[in-house]
Amino acid sequence: MSSLNFEQLKKDKRVIEAKRLLKEALREAQENIVEVKEANPDLVDTYNQLLKEAGRLRGRDLFFPYLGSGLGKGALVELADGSVKYDFISGIGVHYLGHSHKGLLESSVDAALEDTIMQGNLQQGLSSVELLRRLVDIASQGSSRLAHCFLTSSGAMANENAFKAILQKKSPASRFLAFRKCFSGRTLATGQMTDKPEIRAGLPTVLNIDYLPFYDATQPEMSTHATVKALQEHLSEHPGEYAAMVFELIQGEGGYYPGETEFFKSIIQILKENNIAVMIDEIQTFGRTKDFFAFQYFKLEEYVDVVTIGKMAQVCATFFTEDINPKAGLLSQTFTSSTAAINAATVILDEVANGGYLGEEGKINQYSLRFIGHLQQLSAKYPDQLQGPFGVGAMIGFTAFDGSMEKSKAFIFKLYENGVLSFVAGKDPTRIRFLMPVGGVTLEDIDQVCRIIEKVLM
Ligand SMILES: Cc1ncc(COP(=O)(O)O)c(C=O)c1O
Repeated sequence: MSSLNFEQLKKDKRVIEAKRLLKEALREAQENIVEVKEANPDLVDTYNQLLKEAGRLRGRDLFFPYLGSGLGKGALVELADGSVKYDFISGIGVHYLGHSHKGLLESSVDAALEDTIMQGNLQQGLSSVELLRRLVDIASQGSSRLAHCFLTSSGAMANENAFKAILQKKSPASRFLAFRKCFSGRTLATGQMTDKPEIRAGLPTVLNIDYLPFYDATQPEMSTHATVKALQEHLSEHPGEYAAMVFELIQGEGGYYPGETEFFKSIIQILKENNIAVMIDEIQTFGRTKDFFAFQYFKLEEYVDVVTIGKMAQVCATFFTEDINPKAGLLSQTFTSSTAAINAATVILDEVANGGYLGEEGKINQYSLRFIGHLQQLSAKYPDQLQGPFGVGAMIGFTAFDGSMEKSKAFIFKLYENGVLSFVAGKDPTRIRFLMPVGGVTLEDIDQVCRIIEKVLM
């Protein structure tokens, strides 16, 4: 018998029975969520008032008129107007196991039993150690030198922490390199790096960043040559001034552009010769290729110095090598995350590691192939309406019509009305993109979503 009182509480028969009853009640509540459904006319007025109120209180209307009821089933989600939709964007890549997952219900009950809601600098629970152990284990496989992991509560903060650790180590070097069309977050520093002028409109410059063209799959050699040349020009213009280059190996917000191993290696070789750190932003890509990390998928393990993750992991994190480990006092936060998020992260990582998600035959690749196959057929059938598909693994998208922002937005709103949640990415062209909830989706869901896409295209 464990001597810890908390262990006794978790094993208490009433707690075990309560969990069983909760799961049973959830299963029953989900029985009516089986397919896309229109809104309930009796709820529409109240729903619209709530939307208006949300917009007024936030100072800006919500992008989609989406207010969740609190219940869903896999890829399907019930909204507070009684409608049911396919969630193929999952909060931009967050709800990886789908809606109302019973494993996450259980881990949230475990979290609710704990004495505090949040964990942080002065209050880490056992679950934080569990999560850290798993994360470092996954990140340090093969020839990777990633030995440490610092938890945090947003992708932008994971990147901020990465920038600070790098800058401290590489001081007085303070410039960064990044790819055109990259996304890094919306804080002062990450917003500076994000290659989207509108998100830093009116803000002062806090970091010096120089951009390189990203890989162009239509002309691999020329594109590698052009990027290497641009890199060398920057290096000769600012010798010794660069601390790091930040890589998004598959550009997400930029429009679903995957890079390529030899392209990355050509750049990394020069960075290493110049003592410039290699930082990989995997906030969107983590858990979405057939390997846990995209740097593993592109076979770059031995080169990475710093890596950040977020989104599907629920808890965000900055991984770094022994060499980059910062001095005491540089990284600290009141909150690292809620216990519920930390427990959920562990459940999700275990599910991906042991649930048949990874590798050629794994769910991620198989679901991706199914989705790609349908989109290829649609592209052949409607060449003027759909070009693509583009992307890798669970990051799949296409260009609709002329790829203008206006028509792409109109398209995703039409998809929304027809019961599918998607989003846009990139500019010139803007693409329609999906981040399906890999752990909650079925092949039939993918088929059904593609039928709806076809209906909207026609
Ligand atoms: C590549 C990348 N980096 C950083 C971020 C910022 O993450 P967050 O929105 O959690 O701050 C995002 C968010 O979309 C992202 O896609």
